[in-house]
Amino acid sequence: MSGEENGLPEVPKWPEFKLPDLLSTEAVRQLHATIEKEWDALQRSACQTAAGRALWKHVIHDPLADLLAGESYLRSLHEKIKKDCTNNASEISGVILAVRTLWFDSKLEAALHSLHGRETQVVLLGAGMDARAYRLSCLKESDVFEVDLPEVLHMKTTLLQAAMESTNEHQHLKIMAKSLSRVAADIKGNDWLEKLKISGYVPEKNTVWILEGILYYLTHSQAMQVLKIIADKCTTTQTFLLADFMNKPSTTLSNSIFHFYSDWPDHLLPSLGFSHVKLSQIGDPDAHFGLFHDPSNLFNKLRSLPRSVYTNPDGTPCCRLYLVQASGSPDQTLEPADLMLKIST
Ligand SMILES: C[S@@+](CC[C@H](N)C(=O)[O-])C[C@H]1O[C@@H](n2cnc3c(N)ncnc32)[C@H](O)[C@@H]1O
Repeated sequence: MSGEENGLPEVPKWPEFKLPDLLSTEAVRQLHATIEKEWDALQRSACQTAAGRALWKHVIHDPLADLLAGESYLRSLHEKIKKDCTNNASEISGVILAVRTLWFDSKLEAALHSLHGRETQVVLLGAGMDARAYRLSCLKESDVFEVDLPEVLHMKTTLLQAAMESTNEHQHLKIMAKSLSRVAADIKGNDWLEKLKISGYVPEKNTVWILEGILYYLTHSQAMQVLKIIADKCTTTQTFLLADFMNKPSTTLSNSIFHFYSDWPDHLLPSLGFSHVKLSQIGDPDAHFGLFHDPSNLFNKLRSLPRSVYTNPDGTPCCRLYLVQASGSPDQTLEPADLMLKIST
C-alpha cells in the first residue's frame, strides 16, 4: 500500500547518488581537494548552496551546480535527504535553498520584465557558485556582475575552464547573459563599489541587486553600510533589491558564523530610502513552489504565528528567513503602484 493509500503523506523518492561526469576528471578532483583543504566555512558555504541546487534538480535547472558544488558537499547533503525521506520528515533537507533559489529567479525575471527591456545591470553580491548568468535566458539583455572574495571567484573560473577542457558538451558553459564580469572584492571593505565601477558597472543604469545568502555573514554595521550604498542608488536610477534576511533567533543556529539579522526588514528598507518593499516568508503563496508535501510543515506553523513571536509553543526559537524585494527610483513616475505588483507576481 502506498503512503497516500494508507492515509499517510507520500514519502518523496530521491534518486540514488551517482557521481556526475563533470566531477570525475582529475583536474576537477584536484580543484575540489584544494577547496576542502584550504577554504574556511564562509567560502565553503558557496559549495553547500550549489549542492542544494544540484540535488533539487527536479525543480531547479542548474546544469553547472554539480561541478561547482563538488563531490563531498553533494554526498553529505544527499545523505541527509535520504535520511529525511526514510523518516518521512515533513521538511526535506535543502528545501529552504530550493525555495530561495526559485523565489530569487522569479523575482529577478519579474523585475527585468517590468523594465521592458531597458538596459539593465544585475549585481550579485556574494555570488559564490551562482550560475544564473549561464542558466537564465531572461538575462540576455543584462550585464551581470558577480562580486565575491578573490579565492572564490578564481576557483569558480578555474573549475569552469577545467570543465570546458574536459567535455565536448559546451552548451551548459555558454553564458546566457549579455555580459558577465567577475569582481574580486570584499564587501566588508570600502572599495568594492569602486572595483565594481572599474569592471564596467555604471551607477546611472537601472540595476537589480541580488543579495542571496550573504547579509547574515556580515556584522550589523557592515550589512547596514552595504544596504545604505544600494539604497542611495534609488536617488540616481531605478533600483531593485532582492535579499534574504535572518531574524534574530535564526542567527543563534550558528553563533560563530551568523551576525546580522533584521526582524523587520520591511521597516528597515523604507527607512534607508526604498519606496516599495514586500516581504515573503517561506511557504507564502509566492514562496511555496509546491514543495511542501506535508501541510503541517514547520513553515506553515511559523506563518501562523505573529512575526513578533520569538518562541514556538514547544519552546523552540522561531527561526525565520525573510525573502524581501524592494525598489526605488528618483522619478516617481517610474514607480507606479503596480510596479511592485508586477514584481510580486
Ligand atoms: C552562502 S554563500 C551564497 C552564495 C550564492 N549567493 C548562492 O546563493 O549560492 C555566501 C557567499 O558569500 C561570500 N562572501 C561572504 N563574505 C563576503 C565578503 N565579505 N565579501 C564578498 N563575498 C563574501 C562567500 O564567499 C560565499 O560565496
